[in-house]
Amino acid sequence: MRKLAVLTSGGDSPGMNAAVRAAVRRAHFHEVQMFGVYHGYEGLMRGDIKEMSLGSVGDIIQRGGTILYSARSEAFKTEAGQQRAVEQLRDHGIEGLIVIGGDGSFRGAQKLTEKGFPTIGVPGTIDNDIPCTDFTIGFDTALNTVVEAIDKIRDTATSHERTYIIEVMGRDAGDLALWAGLAAGAESIIIPEASQELDDIIERLHAGQRRGKKHSIIIVAEGVGSAASYAEAITKETGWETRVTVLGHIQRGGSPTAMDRMLASRMGAAAVDLLLEGKQDRMVGIQNNEIVDVDFQEALAKKHQLDLSIYQLARTLSI
Ligand code: ADP
Ligand code: F6P
Repeated sequence: MRKLAVLTSGGDSPGMNAAVRAAVRRAHFHEVQMFGVYHGYEGLMRGDIKEMSLGSVGDIIQRGGTILYSARSEAFKTEAGQQRAVEQLRDHGIEGLIVIGGDGSFRGAQKLTEKGFPTIGVPGTIDNDIPCTDFTIGFDTALNTVVEAIDKIRDTATSHERTYIIEVMGRDAGDLALWAGLAAGAESIIIPEASQELDDIIERLHAGQRRGKKHSIIIVAEGVGSAASYAEAITKETGWETRVTVLGHIQRGGSPTAMDRMLASRMGAAAVDLLLEGKQDRMVGIQNNEIVDVDFQEALAKKHQLDLSIYQLARTLSI
């Protein structure tokens, strides 16, 4: 292969730029031309494709978001849209495509491979919800953002002796809420992967009060419902004053942590190497700190497994 391309798709995540940089630089290292596809699959279908020089990815390793922009595209889900995308790639002489995104983006990439166009996926999402990889690019940065926010909320929660309910992103996965809840010492962590009755949440709040706790922090993963509805139920049952914080898109921004830059650099370079080895229809992952590659079909057929031992640990540490 002499010409490759890279795009970012779906919800952006901190570290996507570092992955783009790694892909571009690694391609140049192998004396292969690299092209950037702007605006995800939407841009691919309309041929928004430009060659990327070594210098084009300078000064981006530390920047959040994605210089290639991202998009969600309904048109690309159609047969005609995918056909157009393959034609654009072929018209530019491109022979392999790296897709940085989440599972939806990988399903799109798989469609291109089914049409005979080689693709490799790199997992980039703050949700950490991709099977066959221990971590996704952006999760660590978002985790640190959430923990910093909870630490700040804890200050005011203590001053006013209030109960705070904080809603954390993650789509259907509870990883971000769980890891942040443990790292920030929350009293309760409510995630889709573990059912928790309201009575149990309230009993834990009472237990904290009995031993003189001045504040309570409850983390709610967006996948189980809104923090507001939990706050309402808790106030109704206890009569306590509650406050709600929905952290929202602040969790998706910011400069990537060193861990995310490392992960992105390793994965972005691995994706180029895989294409040049003639591999396709695969996703890069990290397992036990080793970079691996897994068949798309196999990865997408599985469901991401949250580590429930962390949930159990958090419960024992927040009594
Ligand atoms: P993420 O990649 O973060 O999971 P989405 O689920 O929004 O984000 O997917 C990103 C884009 O990938 C979608 O807007 C769509 O263009 C494409 N895509 C998602 N699912 C499919 C599919 N089954 N077939 C083709 N393209 C898809
Ligand atoms: O997948 C990343 C994510 O931030 C999820 O955590 C969240 O549910 C979703 O994207 C929000 O999407 P949007 O940016 O379209 O509101």
